[in-house]
Amino acid sequence: MEQIVISGTGVFTPEESITNEELVESYNKYAENYNSRNKTDIDSGKIVALDLSNEEFIFNASGIKNRYVMDKKGILDPEIMHPILDKRSDDQPSILAEMSIKAARKALDSAGKTTNDIDAVITACSNLERAYPAVSIEVQELLGIKGFAFDMNVACSSATFAIQAAADMIRSGSAKTILIVDPEICSGHLDFKDRDCHFIFGDVCTAMILERKDASESKNSFQIVSTKCITQFSNNIRNNFGFLNNAKKSSPLDRDLLFMQQGRKVFKEVVPMVSRLIIDHLSEEKMQSKEIKRLWLHQANKSMNDLIGKKVLGRTPKEHEQPNILQDYANTSSAGSIIAFSLFNDDMNKNEIGVLCSFGAGYSAGSVILRKI
Ligand code: COA
Repeated sequence: MEQIVISGTGVFTPEESITNEELVESYNKYAENYNSRNKTDIDSGKIVALDLSNEEFIFNASGIKNRYVMDKKGILDPEIMHPILDKRSDDQPSILAEMSIKAARKALDSAGKTTNDIDAVITACSNLERAYPAVSIEVQELLGIKGFAFDMNVACSSATFAIQAAADMIRSGSAKTILIVDPEICSGHLDFKDRDCHFIFGDVCTAMILERKDASESKNSFQIVSTKCITQFSNNIRNNFGFLNNAKKSSPLDRDLLFMQQGRKVFKEVVPMVSRLIIDHLSEEKMQSKEIKRLWLHQANKSMNDLIGKKVLGRTPKEHEQPNILQDYANTSSAGSIIAFSLFNDDMNKNEIGVLCSFGAGYSAGSVILRKI
């Protein structure tokens, strides 16, 4: 069977960032304003006062210290509490496409490829800016790529599912060299007025180049040994935003049109599901956990990753074996494991094995076994 490699990666990181301290200060101002505006109703028991957030809770519960964002000012303004992004005319590049081409150029450089070498583009992410035309086709146009392009969404697992789709397409001959981009403006789907989740997400875009091993000239590439994707329906992470909102008379202020989750349930249900997935995947490939030199896991919660790493390796992973980028980027949905892979792979030796794994809404989880070339 044709051998496929990831021959290049790139990360576009927004210029602005928000620390836990800044985020908590703004949330607490919002909560205090809300409580004083609604004092009469709170005192009479008609509505409940908002509790304050705190940095210590955020870091201990999640491992997050900082997040990069596309607009800091709107998010931190207690009277606004969401990013404010410029409204563009239809003949200007969309924001997701703009982020995508920045990450794509870095991935092309690292793979030693030009846009002429690419014949398919997949945009794989949690939140697309519009229903159509596909953001991928716009990225294709902006980069001057021939061939075809399409968007796909499997929430936090979009990137690993895209790796499987792209590898299968290259093997079957429908494309030769594929660009995958994962633009994530997670700050756009986050309710910064909700203390339980206001700290979770950040913005970023990652990109990858996949091609046949014999066509690759990259100095740092990884063979895709195999992929294994699983899904299992759950409402515990849900966002009801969609094209039927108008027909259903939803208001833009409806809470369920943004990210919602039962964090505790997600934690409890997803850790065993993902640990099992990786263990089964390794066993199907007749590999043992002691052969694994690196785990590039989805970046949602540090304790979740610590538990998964321990179950998979049968011991506590050393820091370099399971790199965390959560403290700097927060949860960036589909891009998280790809950031970890992109930033922490060039020290690996020839033939060493690593596992790239994502998990999230759906539930969905994707495991990719990689061998350093
Ligand atoms: N500041 C202070 N206290 C807070 C708080 C904040 N920002 N947010 C919640 N709390 C409080 C809660 O109200 C609760 O108080 P109580 O015990 O009096 O009821 C307490 O802290 C614990 O809250 P809980 O939501 O149970 O915390 P947790 O330990 O489960 O951590 C998450 C919350 C979201 C960090 C964690 O559940 C998680 O990461 N889950 C997995 C999520 C995931 O992977 N999602 C995928 C998304 S794509």
